[in-house]
Formats: sequence, C-alpha cells, structure tokens
Amino acid sequence: MFLKPYPYLLLLCFVFSVCSERIVQISEICSKHSNIDNCNKILLSVPGTSEGADLGSLTSYIINMAHVNAYNSHALISEIIGNTSDAQAKQRYNSCSMDYNDALLSLTQAKQSYSSGNFADVKSNGAVVIKDVQDCDTKAYDSSLLRTENQYLVDLSTIIMILADFLAGKF
Ligand SMILES: *[C@@H]1O[C@H](CO)[C@@H](O)[C@H](O)[C@H]1NC(C)=O
Repeated sequence: MFLKPYPYLLLLCFVFSVCSERIVQISEICSKHSNIDNCNKILLSVPGTSEGADLGSLTSYIINMAHVNAYNSHALISEIIGNTSDAQAKQRYNSCSMDYNDALLSLTQAKQSYSSGNFADVKSNGAVVIKDVQDCDTKAYDSSLLRTENQYLVDLSTIIMILADFLAGKF
C-alpha cells in the first residue's frame, strides 16, 4: 500500500517544527512569470519577502490573497448587475458571475490540494482560475474596474502555478 506522505509530513511540521523550509527568492519566481513587474509588485507586498520567502508559507498566502480577491470581484460583479438596467449588460455580468463561482470553487480546491500535498492539482486549479477570469474579461469590456481586478487575479494565479511547480520539485 502506498501511503501519501504529505499529511504526515505536515503534521510533523506542525507538532515538532522539524521540517526544513525551502527559501526561494522573488526574482527566481518572477523570472518565470509572464508579467515580471506585476509579479514583483505582488510578491513584495507580502510581508517579509524581500530577503526571500519560505515556499510553503508563500504559496498558502498567495492562494488566500487570490481567494479574497476573487470573492471581492464576485461582489463587485453583483453590484454592477444591480446598478444596470440594460438587459444585455445584465446577461454579460450574470455570465461573469458564473465564471467567478467556478473560480472560487477552484481556489477552495487549490487550498485543499495544497494541504494534502497534491501540487499538480494546485497547478491545474490555478489554470482553471485563469481560464474563468479570462472568459469573464471578454464580457466585462465596459468595466475598467473589474478588468483591473481580473488582471490582478490572473497575475496571482500565474504565481500560484509557478509556486506549484517549485513545490513539485520542477525548479
Ligand atoms: C452602483 O451605484 C452606486 C449608487 O449610484 C454607486 O455608488 C456605485 O459606485 C455603483 N457601483 C458600481 C460598481 O458601478
């Protein structure tokens, strides 16, 4: 029988603090990002990262940031729907709202996958979020506010995918 090692490893980390941390530099992560400037800005906004960050803690932190951001954008979409009387616009933003429901679900799954050490799943959930947000973005052409938030979530999710590769030992 094959025992999945990670839950036990996490338990050990938690109880005995015996796990060796892996420190990564922001420049190492962002060199793999499609938008290096945005990546640097985001990671430097995380407390204590200028000297490098513990890979596990950073991943957890960024997934949470993405989740909070998606939650807020979802609320913004509801507000846009409530504010418009244009039936066609309502339909577009209703569709965006569904894209975001899916993105929120994927971020919840990414958290669970991270906890159980399934880093390939963290990565694929990151990819689903990007796809959902890009789908919404094509319908949100008349809200620059939402489009800015969409870009931010795409940047965050791209970081999640890169961190998942680090965690899986690809880098
Ligand atoms: C919705 O309308 C309210 C009241 O006019 C306004 O304060 C708010 O900024 C609007 N929200 C959006 C997202 O357009």
